[in-house]
Amino acid sequence: MKTIVIAAQKGGAGKTTLARNLAVAASHDNYTVLCLDLDPQSSLRSWWEGREADTPSMLDRDPAPHSIRTTLNAAQGQFDLCIIDTPPAAPEWLSEALGAADLVLIPVRPSPDDLRAVGATIAAVNTACVPFAFALSQTPRAKITDEAARILAQHGRVAPVNIVQRVIYAETGATGQGVTETSDDKARAEIISVWNYVKGILNG
Ligand SMILES: Nc1ncnc2c1ncn2[C@@H]1O[C@H](COP(=O)(O)OP(=O)(O)O)[C@@H](O)[C@H]1O
Ligand SMILES: [Mg+2]
Repeated sequence: MKTIVIAAQKGGAGKTTLARNLAVAASHDNYTVLCLDLDPQSSLRSWWEGREADTPSMLDRDPAPHSIRTTLNAAQGQFDLCIIDTPPAAPEWLSEALGAADLVLIPVRPSPDDLRAVGATIAAVNTACVPFAFALSQTPRAKITDEAARILAQHGRVAPVNIVQRVIYAETGATGQGVTETSDDKARAEIISVWNYVKGILNG
């Protein structure tokens, strides 16, 4: 089983949106996926509870963050992929969760505030010594997006596809769907591309 931790010490970066859409895209790619929600706000779980499909899976209760290793050990052999959503803060257990990752994905909005804030997350993944990649999130079609990609590329890999600002991402938060389950072709294509990029890193 591979483990992806989605982290960014910034609220609204797009962590939960990325977690749920990757989880659905991976499920449609025949991966058995377990989602864990370590954010006390439980937005990943709330979305999942509104879902009709049986996959991806969640546990009846999410583990206490300090039990994450035990939970992952128990899930080994049962799932191909575990996707872990985290809170915007940096609780003391975050390093433990990051350390369990095969890949940390860091969504970043292309704004000066978000770019300033990402330094703390970069420091945390570097301390944990785990592979990571940035994904630009909620991007406008503007120069600031290319500029942000250029700056982030100085610190690590940047997903070659941006998660564009689209109403469907917010709408599917309420319907329990992934955008790949809607008729929005552009959103579907971009999430499949992000998933393929992530899969390439995990299998690389
Ligand atoms: N690509 C996107 N396009 C439009 N809205 C988005 C997009 N990504 C996230 N959002 C919206 O922005 C808000 C914050 O996203 P969320 O994934 O909850 O961030 P985080 O989990 O990092 O706090 C949510 O209301 C979500 O629906
Ligand atoms: Mg969230």
